[in-house]
Amino acid sequence: MEKKATLTVNGKTYDIPLLIGTEGEMALDISTLRQKTGLITLDPGYANTGSCTSSITFMDGEKGILRYRGYPVEQLAEYSSFRETAYLLINGELPSAKELERFSLMLNDHSLVHEDMRSFFENFPRRAHPMGILSSMVNALRAFYPEIPERSEEEEINITFARLLSKVRTMAAVSYKISRGHKVVYPRHDLSYCANFLKMMFDSPVKPYHVHDDIVDALNVFWILHADHEQNCSTAAVRLVGSARVNLYAAISAGICALWGPLHGGANQAVVEMLQDIQDSGGDPAPFIARARDKNDPFRLMGFGHRVYKTYDPRARIMEKVCNRVLKKLKIHDPLLDIAKRLEEMAVNDPYFIDHHLYPNVDFYSGIVLRAMGIPLNMFPVMFAIGRLPGWISQWKESMEDPKWKLHRPRQIYTGLQKRDYIPVDQRG
Ligand code: CMC
Repeated sequence: MEKKATLTVNGKTYDIPLLIGTEGEMALDISTLRQKTGLITLDPGYANTGSCTSSITFMDGEKGILRYRGYPVEQLAEYSSFRETAYLLINGELPSAKELERFSLMLNDHSLVHEDMRSFFENFPRRAHPMGILSSMVNALRAFYPEIPERSEEEEINITFARLLSKVRTMAAVSYKISRGHKVVYPRHDLSYCANFLKMMFDSPVKPYHVHDDIVDALNVFWILHADHEQNCSTAAVRLVGSARVNLYAAISAGICALWGPLHGGANQAVVEMLQDIQDSGGDPAPFIARARDKNDPFRLMGFGHRVYKTYDPRARIMEKVCNRVLKKLKIHDPLLDIAKRLEEMAVNDPYFIDHHLYPNVDFYSGIVLRAMGIPLNMFPVMFAIGRLPGWISQWKESMEDPKWKLHRPRQIYTGLQKRDYIPVDQRG
């Protein structure tokens, strides 16, 4: 039996088809609503609007479930590598050993950044935020790596994916080194994706950096947990900008800009700043919780709440374990972790947070993990961006391959003044 809903407007009834996903989620398919009824739907912030169908990531915000291509994120965090998870997201299946080797070779081949790009990094003001630098430089990649007409479209796209995954990681480290006035460290063919990044970030001719397995493991999990999150703000930006058929670099650059915001990927930086503020004010989280509850105060508890999760973010649980493990292994005592635990304990038992379904999200513990690795605070959102690349790429690819592809162009309900006539300046009161 065909599933449908009915809508009655001014006494006239219309059938609205019901769409059912593989996990049983249901949607009203309103794609012909305006054509049939002259009506549009209004949904500020798109909280009730599905912008596409997708077979990449499944989230259940009520049960706290997250799966990439059907695999629970808990299993991927335990057994997979970020490189393999990136392959899975982009290609739909886990790679065979041969496919993984080919993918790794490709990432290695494309890990260097054009030497002429160095001068750009050198000329940003030293205090420029790394997210602004990264989004500009990713956009600039198209100029340095134009399409080669002799290549097939498929080959060109696969090379672009590899370039992005590999070069963005190199660019992040180059930008950090140059911002410190230090010698740039080149990627190496004999190191894993994560170890390579750490070496490029922290190695120095006078202070060699020894890659620590526990840090590599933590970084792998950090990036796997950030790899995709269905139609979040930055991914929606990538799809929207990409829908105008711009090149992928420009679409990813838009995603980086969206991710920069403190309500999205900038939250990991904002959480640590908030924990530091709590520490500086004596270490008691209670006044901060009181401010978050106060309707007249715009302050929000950073690292708490989520548009989709109305229970614990499953990534936050894994991140907390990683945090405890890495600090213990590295014998680090971070007072911010004690504050974070006290804050969480108080917030999850507070009626305001319970009633509003506000629980820790992925960013709550991730900043403490990044601090333990030695990543500087303003680079935290960049770490999120590197992790989110496979998601942006796979979502862009899916949208380009969608037979129902359409330019993204929402409508509005106009609430301004009605038509009026122009008055010459000398006749205005
Ligand atoms: N602290 C205090 N109150 C909050 C918070 C918070 N962190 N988050 C939501 N609320 C309240 C909000 O004031 C509102 O209250 P009321 O209904 O009484 O007016 C209610 O909860 C709903 O808020 P909303 O802004 O309509 O909800 P949303 O679904 O748009 O918010 C959010 C999602 C992530 C923007 C929000 O929870 C927030 O600002 N959190 C802090 C920033 C943060 O941690 N962001 C990282 C998100 S996870 C990483 C990622 O995927 O980007």
